Amino acid sequence: MKIDGTPYRSIWLDQDGWSVRIIDQTKLPWSFEILRLTTLEEAAHAIRSMLVRGAPLIGAAAAYALCLGLRADPATATLERGAEILRATRPTAVNLAWAIERMLVRLRHLPPERRVAAAYAEAGRIAAEDIAQNAAIGQAGLELIAHAAGGRRVNILTHCNAGWLATVDWGTALAPIYMAHDNGIDVHVYVDETRPRNQGAALTAWELGKHGVPHTLITDNAGGHLMQRGKVDMVIVGTDRVTRAGDVANKIGTYLKALAAQDAGVPFWVAVPSSTIDWAIRDGIAEIPIEERAASEVTMVTGRALDGSVATVRLCPKETPAANPAFDVTPARLVSGFITERGRCAASEGGLLSLFPEHR
Ligand code: MRU
Repeated sequence: MKIDGTPYRSIWLDQDGWSVRIIDQTKLPWSFEILRLTTLEEAAHAIRSMLVRGAPLIGAAAAYALCLGLRADPATATLERGAEILRATRPTAVNLAWAIERMLVRLRHLPPERRVAAAYAEAGRIAAEDIAQNAAIGQAGLELIAHAAGGRRVNILTHCNAGWLATVDWGTALAPIYMAHDNGIDVHVYVDETRPRNQGAALTAWELGKHGVPHTLITDNAGGHLMQRGKVDMVIVGTDRVTRAGDVANKIGTYLKALAAQDAGVPFWVAVPSSTIDWAIRDGIAEIPIEERAASEVTMVTGRALDGSVATVRLCPKETPAANPAFDVTPARLVSGFITERGRCAASEGGLLSLFPEHR
């Protein structure tokens, strides 16, 4: 996608052909800073501290992290240890474990001297496939938006950031929105601010603004009210892990949006690349690990002060304890359907298998 006319991906290889470039997402929207990663440890830190975030992007970042690790030492023990370090960085998004496993399957059996080239080739394929899958999700969701439009404005509510910054390019939930906008459909997005880290306010609003998509930032608590008043035509969110039975883990607060959407009769769609489906589990509430992050993300907030400086301030008494579950699970029964790279389907095992019969 473009930033002020210049095309970017969220992760790419430097001109040197081996080090990895990322956009530091913790600095957005205050400043646009590109970082260079040269070691597996730096890349693991970037994932853990959310300099890169979003399920598909952390999968691609982990794949490139293994390339950097192998470049330093291509031995089997180093490969396995690197995989272990990366797996522990963030537990909920299955794309991370999926990409690491894919790299291990490709690299383990090779002699060490052939691993580095093979690793970069595989990481490149993971990134390229992600872009192609998200473009296909965009097409599948575009039909949905075009159908809802019928010549009038379509209002879509989204949560967190499932845009191009969360993937290698295009995004998942935002891909259909970008394509609808590019195709001349009058689309407007209600952007949940997405406390505690405010990915909606900081990242989704920034992305949509850079692309010229009309949008309105709302508090996380406003969505139900807007849905009741008929102001939302559909909800589209991304996901970090979908179970075989169609349960959806996504950013904390997604479940409440799904409940409100069901009560208000608003379609609730989830954009899912196949790399986000965990075919090994069924019950999302029992089986998906939910990341617990630092209490300081809840008690403090960062923003631009009136004097122009970027400041972090405390929101509550110094001694107030806080809890920070970063994701929740929306049961399949609350999901109207999935938008995948192979088209749309019901949020159920049968629906998913109709598009991905190889997992029967
Ligand atoms: O904690 P984050 O910012 O990594 O969470 C991101 C989300 O929850 C996204 O909605 C999800 O990863 C889908 S990204 C296409």
